[in-house]
Amino acid sequence: MKNTIYLIGFMGTGKSTIAGYLKQNHGRQIIEMDQVIEEREKMTISRIFEEKGEEYFRSLETELLKELHGRTGLVVSCGGGTPLRASNVDIMHKGGWVVFLTATPETVYERVKNSHNRPLLEKDKNISFIASLMGERQERYEAAADIVITTDGRSAEEICQEIIRKIEEKMALID
Ligand code: S3P
Repeated sequence: MKNTIYLIGFMGTGKSTIAGYLKQNHGRQIIEMDQVIEEREKMTISRIFEEKGEEYFRSLETELLKELHGRTGLVVSCGGGTPLRASNVDIMHKGGWVVFLTATPETVYERVKNSHNRPLLEKDKNISFIASLMGERQERYEAAADIVITTDGRSAEEICQEIIRKIEEKMALID
């Protein structure tokens, strides 16, 4: 039974904020993938990338998704790169609804410009690099998504209402 809500999307599209809102207002338990991985590895994401490499980090993401499969009532805030592996997307589709949050490169830049915990952006934190990496990933995000939601200039409440409504519409089609 599909139950988990998986939030995917580029860095800074609001996955953690929306997950927090779904926890508070819709009784979902949050799994913040980056945070779980940091706690388990006892290292920041930046250090994991630096010392063990991106592939190692990607394997930790896959392991975590496998573990979460079968649990109910979750909202999983995925890392921005989680849906780039096809096997991760397969696990997500079996367990729940994949919700792709979008934002323009300008919005993303505004949201990430003062943080330093995203190794892939640290050296090139500007709108044109964000636009180019987002462009490279766009097709895979879209292919993974059951539902696509724009976040620019919208409140968490508005976004969550749209998520819940669209999931209910999808579930009605299955019943
Ligand atoms: C990544 C996004 C980050 C984190 C890691 C890699 C990516 O998560 O998993 O830095 O490849 O887009 P957020 O999207 O939560 O920032």
